[in-house]
This record gives sequence, C-alpha cells and structure tokens, in this order.
Amino acid sequence: MKIKVYPTPELQSQAAAKVIVDQIKVKPDTTLCLATGDSPFGTYREVVRMIKDPDIDISKIKVFGLDEWVGIPPNNTGSCHHYLHENFIGPLGIRPDHVHLFDGLSNDLDAECKRMTEAISIAGGIDIMIVGIGMNGHIGFNEPGVDVTLWSHAIELDEITKTVGQKYFQSATPLSKGITQGFQQVFTARTLMLLAHGRKKAPIIRQTVEAPVNVAIPSTLLRQHNNSLIVLDEEAASELSASFRN
Ligand code: F6R
Repeated sequence: MKIKVYPTPELQSQAAAKVIVDQIKVKPDTTLCLATGDSPFGTYREVVRMIKDPDIDISKIKVFGLDEWVGIPPNNTGSCHHYLHENFIGPLGIRPDHVHLFDGLSNDLDAECKRMTEAISIAGGIDIMIVGIGMNGHIGFNEPGVDVTLWSHAIELDEITKTVGQKYFQSATPLSKGITQGFQQVFTARTLMLLAHGRKKAPIIRQTVEAPVNVAIPSTLLRQHNNSLIVLDEEAASELSASFRN
C-alpha cells in the first residue's frame, strides 16, 4: 500500500484527481467506482476542472456507485445518487447508459446487488475505485466484522455509521441498512485509492496503516490489495509513525 501525504486538502485533491485523469487519458474507456461524502468532494471538483480540457475524451468512461442508503430516494440530497449526479456525472455529462448506481428503493435488494455485480463484470471490472473511510474504518458500507467473500450486498449499518451519516441529510433521517460493493469488488479493482483529510480522520488512518490487518477495522484489509494508494492531507496523516510517511 502506497501512502502519499500533501500539505493541504487542496493539494491532496489535486494529486488524487491527477491519478484519475491520467488513467482516463491512457484508457478512455476507464471504469470508475466512486464513493460519496466529504472525502472525495474536492477530488471530483478537480477532475471536473481538469477534464474541461477539450483534449480529454470522457465519452467512454463508465461510472459505478460504491454504495447507497437503503430506503432513501435518489432525489434526497443526502443520497449517494444525488451526490454523484451533482458532483460528477452531471458536470461531466456522462452518458446515462454509462452510469450504474444502486437503487436504494429497490424492493428486491438481492436482485439489485446481482444487477450491479453483473454490470461491473460486463464492463470488464473496475479500473479505479475511490473510497473514503468511516470513523469506524468502514469502506463503502463494509462495516466492522465484514465478510470479505461478498460482492455487492445489502447490510445492516453500524451504529457509528447511522449517527455520522446524519451529516448528509437536511433533517434527522432514520438509517438502518446500506447497499454496497463488497470486498470482492474492492480486491479486484485494478487501482484502489483511499482519500482522507482532516484531523478527525487521523486516528483511524493510523490504525488502517499500523494496526494488524483484521475485519474489525475493514480499512486495514486494503493493505492486502496489490495496488492500493492512500492519499492524505497533513492533518489526516498527523498520527502516522514517521516510518510510514513518504
Ligand atoms: C460513501 C462511503 C462511505 C464514506 C465514509 C467517509 O459513499 O462509501 O464509506 O466514504 O463514511 O465519509 P466522509 O468522506 O463524509 O467522511
């Protein structure tokens, strides 16, 4: 696992965006699997800015959602669906048939997961998966105690996720389940990029890098990925031991 630390969140976002844009330049039909939330916000903004360069052809890229809140409609501003449309798909004008997001309102979540796993497989797998990290070390909605054998699946959310997740919603919103890409998709993504910034992420970033690999802290499992990259700002990296810093 490579670790890159940048002095500010802006520089961190620019560096992460460059990884994505460079990949699109060499492989115009890049497949992206994208997290939502605060962590990738600046990176997506930078990708949009960099791609406005008319030389970059994005007509062939495909976008897959990393996860979704079960029971939350796509037009709810707290949904992952809404976030990705607002911050990535819309600004870049990605073709609707190149976008695959989980339907959190599906009344057959197993079928929804199967549909997603098949869509990724038909697209030839994920080139770059962008993930944030929960305060409990979750990746997507792969919560502590994760079953790493799973592909897309629906799951009960951890209490921390339900509490912290309120920040995305305009009013108190009951959250119980999520639908997420599983660790099989995480492990088979050709590049896995974890983004984190800010002081509050420092303790979980230290554990991710330095604690024994274990399912109680799902993010530690990223160390078993053969091409994973953690892109941090100085604050998120502030508790890392010197030997783990670039
Ligand atoms: C959201 C997702 C979550 C978040 C994580 C961190 O699509 O997959 O795992 O990445 O909860 O959220 P932020 O970035 O808001 O701190």
